[in-house]
Amino acid sequence: MATQETTMDKIVSLAKRRGFVFQSSEIYGGLTSAWDYGPMGVELKNRIQRFWWREMTQLHDNIVGLDAAIMMHPRVWEASGHVENFHDPMVDCKHCKSRFRADHIDLNEACPTCGTKGEFTEPREFNLMFKTHMGPIPSDDSIVYLRPETAQGIYVNYKNVVQTSRVKIPFGIAQVGKAFRNEIVTKNFIFRTCEFEQMEMQYFVKPGDDEETFNYWKEKRMAYYDKLGIRMEKLHFHQHGPGELAHYAKDAYDIEYEFPFGWKELEGIHNRTDFDLNRHSEYSRKDLTYLDEESKERFVPYIIETSAGLTRSLLMVLCDAYDEEEVAEGDIRTVLHFHPQIAPITVGVFPLVKKDGLSELAKKIELELREDYTTYYDQSGAIGRRYRRQDEIGTPYCITIDYQTKEDKTVTLRYRDSMEQIRIPISEISATIKKAMKEYKRVGVAASS
Ligand code: GAP
Repeated sequence: MATQETTMDKIVSLAKRRGFVFQSSEIYGGLTSAWDYGPMGVELKNRIQRFWWREMTQLHDNIVGLDAAIMMHPRVWEASGHVENFHDPMVDCKHCKSRFRADHIDLNEACPTCGTKGEFTEPREFNLMFKTHMGPIPSDDSIVYLRPETAQGIYVNYKNVVQTSRVKIPFGIAQVGKAFRNEIVTKNFIFRTCEFEQMEMQYFVKPGDDEETFNYWKEKRMAYYDKLGIRMEKLHFHQHGPGELAHYAKDAYDIEYEFPFGWKELEGIHNRTDFDLNRHSEYSRKDLTYLDEESKERFVPYIIETSAGLTRSLLMVLCDAYDEEEVAEGDIRTVLHFHPQIAPITVGVFPLVKKDGLSELAKKIELELREDYTTYYDQSGAIGRRYRRQDEIGTPYCITIDYQTKEDKTVTLRYRDSMEQIRIPISEISATIKKAMKEYKRVGVAASS
């Protein structure tokens, strides 16, 4: 089992070594707070996104998808309140010049970096939106912002969706995409970055139905993490107090995860009331009311939002999956216990040896499995080492082809978590894996925390 102090360093190092996450522009010394997702990372990120998308759209008959542009009309951000309210207070240590969010430190105490006491600049308000210009000549009229949340793309399209699809209240619109915030302090690897991805769902309800719907989504979102195989004792709700509520929210709960650096927000569930639609109606002078065709009532819907970070989820999944297990005396394996549905590689395929036609046979089996699964063919090194290499990137199943395969058309299937090995016919590999993926429950060799 890994120790608290070093877990994060080990995860960052594994993420680099095995192609999950690289520092952006590394050959130029790197860009602070920007990260690139490597071959394993992009697979993991895409699968988390698909897992979420399936959960939020496919499994509901009243939630549809959207993919809005990152750049929007600048008035959107005036209406949303972001131009006016999306500020953080910033202070600098006069001695070492380190920069902090004033609401994150005690200004009468010592600087967390150099230890100098009470030597901070006055807090300055700092808008978190990235501003740029559209068109060749920068002017006040050409300002555009990179969206700080994906939500507004949904609100300004809500009438389009109502008019073009058959949704009726209550209904939801889901979206995954990039968001940008000029964060004052970025740290803890990919936890808080200036460019990140969000998975948001906005659920439109009749005013008065909002509180019940809010509780429904609160529970539903927590249950989702259970389905994703996350250890539930590492998750809890945190309700926002009056001072914490965002400018648009009537009630808000965060789902927090216990990262190696403490309990931190993973997802926010917000009751945004009719704030956003009213503001857009006011600023655009467009009617954004909804007509209930049965009751003939007309109203501005209330919105319940579930907003999860995709890149932050990837970090959470890595932290939750990471383990070091003593499998025999003095023999420690590093393993990522990903849920099989999000593991970058589903099946590793190995010939026991390269000769005597085993590699050809293994390659043939691998090619067939590719129709259904992401596979990885490996014929180099001792078989035990090949298993360990797959453990380290979280591959849940490995197939080994040996001399017996030639005789009776069976292979060895090895499970990542339990390290159990069973013998099955070649013709049953695909179905056995499919069943195992569906019934997956995490188990560890050693008790893990
Ligand atoms: N639309 C509502 C909204 O954006 P938020 O609580 O500001 O609410 C939602 O953000 C989620 O987006 C957070 O719970 C977090 O997972 C993710 N997120 C926010 N800022 C982030 C950042 N700078 N880096 C990575 N993820 C971030």
